[in-house]
Amino acid sequence: MSVLELNNISYGYIDGSQKRMILNNLSYTFEKGKFYSIFGPSGSGKTTLLSVAGGLEKSQEGEVKYEGTNISDLGLSKYRRNHISFVFQQFNLIPYLTALENVVNIMNITDNKLPKPYETTALNLLEKFGIVESKAKRSIHQLSGGEQQRVAIARGLATNVDLILTDEPTGNLDISTEKEIIKILKSLAEDFGKCVIAVSHSLAISESSDIHLELLDGKLYEIDR
Ligand SMILES: Nc1ncnc2c1ncn2[C@@H]1O[C@H](COP(=O)(O)OP(=O)(O)O)[C@@H](O)[C@H]1O
Ligand SMILES: [Mg+2]
Repeated sequence: MSVLELNNISYGYIDGSQKRMILNNLSYTFEKGKFYSIFGPSGSGKTTLLSVAGGLEKSQEGEVKYEGTNISDLGLSKYRRNHISFVFQQFNLIPYLTALENVVNIMNITDNKLPKPYETTALNLLEKFGIVESKAKRSIHQLSGGEQQRVAIARGLATNVDLILTDEPTGNLDISTEKEIIKILKSLAEDFGKCVIAVSHSLAISESSDIHLELLDGKLYEIDR
């Protein structure tokens, strides 16, 4: 079932007196239960694409639809709060709060109905991703990079959304931790039915995804791996 639809999206940045197009008439439809990778070299526009798809930036042309509704009609902040999770390790965990507090905070923000008490739900979720209670009660900066990324993934699942967007999820992790994170991302799609979109320049991610996309000259192409 289609969950996210990008229709003729264009987005550019003003560069001096010129506008440089980063996304150029880009269209693609994403479905639930699949793990998509979007591959592209640094500067190709992957982060920009994720920002537009996630309602952080408004597309300058074209439309982004969530389950058939234009996200502007849905309300961008409501869309972000109730329908998507960003899993950006360095970006959305608050380092001086504990892993548990980071997860419970996001549960307090969404309008989605979640099982209570939140603390128990959050601890169970963290444990599923290998963060036991003693670690869950440590502040983020006292966890390893791989553990932080697992907290970010648990946090991404805590609001019970369909769409998980992740930017360079294995960015500064070693190879064995990268493999673990890829396994988790795959399982979010296959076992939890989420639509997972990972943008990355990592070949390992591109190869392990269900659908391999490449961002090239502002458009998305399906590629064979
Ligand atoms: N706020 C901005 N203003 C101007 N140019 C930008 C801005 N953000 C990104 N860019 C440029 O747009 C291009 C695509 O950036 P980005 O989406 O971050 O690519 P990627 O994530 O693939 O590395 C790069 O050339 C970058 O320098
Ligand atoms: Mg980027």
